[in-house]
Amino acid sequence: MSDAGKNSAFEISPLPGATFGSVVRLAEGSGIRDLIAVAEAASEALPSALTQAQGFLLLPGMNAINQEPELLVRLSRLFGLEVENYLQTLTRKNAIHTEVPEILIVSNTPPCSRMPPERPDPPLTADGTIPVQFPLRRGWHTDQSYRRPPPDISLFYAMMTASKGQGQTCYANGIAAYEALSPEMKERVERLEGLHVQPGTGRSEQAVKEGETPRPLAPHESSLAQPVVRAHPVTGQRALYLCEGGQMDWVDGPLVGMEPGLDGDGAKLLYELMTHYTRPEFVYAHDWQEGDLVIYENRSMIHAATWFDAVAYDRIMWRTTVWGNPGEMYDGEKRSWVPDGN
Ligand SMILES: [Fe+2]
Repeated sequence: MSDAGKNSAFEISPLPGATFGSVVRLAEGSGIRDLIAVAEAASEALPSALTQAQGFLLLPGMNAINQEPELLVRLSRLFGLEVENYLQTLTRKNAIHTEVPEILIVSNTPPCSRMPPERPDPPLTADGTIPVQFPLRRGWHTDQSYRRPPPDISLFYAMMTASKGQGQTCYANGIAAYEALSPEMKERVERLEGLHVQPGTGRSEQAVKEGETPRPLAPHESSLAQPVVRAHPVTGQRALYLCEGGQMDWVDGPLVGMEPGLDGDGAKLLYELMTHYTRPEFVYAHDWQEGDLVIYENRSMIHAATWFDAVAYDRIMWRTTVWGNPGEMYDGEKRSWVPDGN
């Protein structure tokens, strides 16, 4: 147990079944409000637990958020300068919580109606677990990497889950993946940049494969370069920072200065890096229980959703996004995603 967890409303222990991450459990007799009060009084406790856990915390039993969604925002505020208000961005309104605009709804239910990804084929690996490694597992990304500055941390809360064994979220540790690169590959990616783009622009791998015509983009929607290797602004640890099919620009990218397109040298290197990044020893697949809250790093991790039976099950997840400490390379930049710059 860390010092932060002693004599308080919560206890911190390693995440079972993973090579990174911690579980923050409510102490006996404590509730979420006690946890928040303690965490607000010792405001570094949870953020430092997050960095010590290399970017992943699981807080089970946070079900009171269902009735009082503002609690999720209070928890989010512990992790950074600003909790995104989705009404001030270009997020579609039907995915924004009607009373708390800092909450993004990820659900197959109306009005959000966002469908889960396809089921991989085969659906399970030989050992009976879900496949996690790219390219059998697709959809690996870090939230909103098509923005500069990109966000720091996301909080993801399970209000309603699908059946057990479905609708997991996979998380990959970019610090461990970077450290395991060969010296030659570290050298090769050191100054490399990826070209990131928001979904729905006709520039994803799938869209290019299908011959879609990319739509014209306003300046605030344009593809943006991000470093492939980022130093964490708090710990200085280096991590891979990359996405794959849907959040990279496959017309002019995916890697800046390399041969573009589906069959270019950039695509080959991206496939190699993503396959490495998502090796099973760097990945944890979380099976959600209702009331689980996961707090995850976007500066040093990627994640991917998995399939669930959206006809049989309703799944409702709430997300908040915290930003404000992207690292000195973004110093002084205006918000790229706001039409007038700020
Ligand atoms: Fe995400």
